[in-house]
Amino acid sequence: MRVLHVGAEIFPLVKTGGLADVLGALPQALIGQGADVRLLLPGLPAIADAVLHQKIVAEIGPSFGAARITLRLGQMPYSHVPAYVIDAPFLYRRPGSPYQASDGSEWPDNAQRFALLGWVGAHLASGELDPTWQPELLHAHDWHAAMACAYLAAHPPASTATVFTVHNLAYQGLFPSGDFPLLGLSSRFMASTGLEYHQQVSFMKAGLKFAQRVTTVSPTYAREIGTHEFGFGLDGVIRGRGADVSGVLNGVDGAVWDPSTDAGIAARYSAVQLAGKARCKQALQAELGLAPRADAPVFGVVSRLTSQKGLDLVLGALPGLLRRGGQLALQGAGDAALEAAFLAAAKAHPGEVAVRIGYDEALAHRLIAGADAILVPSRFEPCGLTQLYGLRYGTLPVVRRVGGLADTVVDASDDALQADRATGFTFDAATPAALDAALQRASTLYAQPERWRRLMARAMAQDFSWDGAAQKYVALYRDLIRPK
Ligand code: ADP
Ligand code: GLC
Repeated sequence: MRVLHVGAEIFPLVKTGGLADVLGALPQALIGQGADVRLLLPGLPAIADAVLHQKIVAEIGPSFGAARITLRLGQMPYSHVPAYVIDAPFLYRRPGSPYQASDGSEWPDNAQRFALLGWVGAHLASGELDPTWQPELLHAHDWHAAMACAYLAAHPPASTATVFTVHNLAYQGLFPSGDFPLLGLSSRFMASTGLEYHQQVSFMKAGLKFAQRVTTVSPTYAREIGTHEFGFGLDGVIRGRGADVSGVLNGVDGAVWDPSTDAGIAARYSAVQLAGKARCKQALQAELGLAPRADAPVFGVVSRLTSQKGLDLVLGALPGLLRRGGQLALQGAGDAALEAAFLAAAKAHPGEVAVRIGYDEALAHRLIAGADAILVPSRFEPCGLTQLYGLRYGTLPVVRRVGGLADTVVDASDDALQADRATGFTFDAATPAALDAALQRASTLYAQPERWRRLMARAMAQDFSWDGAAQKYVALYRDLIRPK
């Protein structure tokens, strides 16, 4: 089966979050299941300059404000997955984030930039741009790629099947209605049955309304987004899709995240050879200026600093964490007030709280390897990958029981401990007190090394591989591609 994946970021070239990790790993896993998969990516500098052996596939006339657009086909470095790259320097050749200028404001022409991504996806799917390879199914990721589903719907006969995956419903690609004419769609698309959302244009709705199937990245989040609490105003649209909405849990890329082969950490280790983990902890404490106490549980955070991630709860629970002798190691970037609050906490508690503001992939590995537990107290979490990395590295997750966190971490309740099923700590209320209670349980178990090691062994034995997820996607693709 021929499948085209369309998305805006991809590890290791362009990454703002877990979406990049997914696009960096899932296509290869699908190829492993026998699918013929290609990628379509915007020609952001880090992508356009890194994709190997690029050849021109099509010259596209001036559109979406760009005078020159060329479609090239090459190969991803490392994975060698074939990748189409849209070379449109006027729209894509900009430094920094794929979505924002360096001052944090959205690029003013994001509607054109991501409409083009969808438009090219749709026209590849209809066979107009590359006569040598026509996908049977187009799989679009997040609002950045969602317009592909609307453009395909606009140009019947659409024989191409479509899947739209929501990685995060909070980011919807909303634009003023005045941008609608730029999209080149007939006015019937600017209706509540189409892209219209409270007099704005919603790219997210293009995916939710026009894809044949909508998936999200965990079964629990698939249920949650149909509710007012988690639907970000789109729960009605989601409910309207009924059984077309499902959840497929993300996996972990074992080539990137595996403590037994990770070249970037102080010492390699595994469930049967745990000594290296203590060395990683020592090295982390030394690197971050934490007191070199082997008996202090180190609680780690690697996260975007946004309200989604619930890190204000960590600030609230910090006094208790420190009182019980714990340490906090946080790495993150984002919201200025949260950055300032964590930097202030580090200043107030030298040797016990360490904070690194910024984005640093290598430090993320050292932190997850060196910490004893990883905190993910999210208000909502479509899947979450850092808790999966934590499980793999024997760094026990302390998570709020929502979305993918609920689907991946088994709380150390008395029953689960008894049955040897527990892999971490969960809590329910989005309050510092509820987090504090979970941290207290973690500290209590940490003080009993034998029991903590059991938990680590159980956590490290979990199998969240991409192969399982890829099999589920292939089954879904088969359903849609099968001749009706
Ligand atoms: P989200 O996509 O919502 O940010 P995920 O848990 O799915 O959440 O994915 C986050 C990814 O980004 C993980 O690979 C994590 O290690 C990484 N990450 C987050 N913040 C940082 C940071 N400051 N430095 C390095 N990596 C980070
Ligand atoms: C989003 C979500 C995160 C998920 C990631 C990859 O960024 O916030 O929970 O893991 O996408 O699917």
